[in-house]
Amino acid sequence: MNGKGTEGHRLNRLFTREQIASIVQGLADQISRDYDGRELVLVCILKGAFVFLSDLIRHLRIPAQVDFVRLASYGSGMKTCGKIEITKDVEIPLENKDVLIIEDIIDSGRTLRFLKDRLALLKPRSIKVCALLDKKSRREVEMEADYLGTDVDDIFIVGYGIDFNEYYRHLPEIYYVTPIDHSKV
Ligand code: IMP
Ligand code: MG
Repeated sequence: MNGKGTEGHRLNRLFTREQIASIVQGLADQISRDYDGRELVLVCILKGAFVFLSDLIRHLRIPAQVDFVRLASYGSGMKTCGKIEITKDVEIPLENKDVLIIEDIIDSGRTLRFLKDRLALLKPRSIKVCALLDKKSRREVEMEADYLGTDVDDIFIVGYGIDFNEYYRHLPEIYYVTPIDHSKV
């Protein structure tokens, strides 16, 4: 997976559009029930969760405000480690609001741990996490999604907003990446 661009690896389909739609609908139903009558603010983590967020909000049956954060982490690009920084902060005041963080994938858990702790300083009424995918076997710090689409194995995911070196975000389905073994061709 060290090849430049889209070469040297292959995409294997993991979830179809229909499977994704059904997962997102299920999450939206749960959230609509639980947050009925509350002051819901969805805080989407850029960039990977933007497609998930855009589908999710259109299935909600309750009003929700939307905000975005962007985080930078120092690491290999495939792994979150060390220091995490916020490069675009929330703009909506979160005090006394019911905050739901929208994330694409939980891996080590470090990104969400950092963001959850940081947003908690803004004194929201509640703060929970909704993640589309979870690689539980990779967890390094304690972090559990309150709303989870589905678990996945320790594989590298792309599509539906999720990238590999900024490629593949546009794909409407979810794939996992495997290296092409030229010795077998
Ligand atoms: P964590 O901080 O280790 O939990 O990493 C979470 C972030 O890493 C996610 O927001 C993704 O941006 C990225 N990430 C983790 N796994 C994958 C993957 O399989 N494909 C693409 N990005 C991933
Ligand atoms: Mg991300």
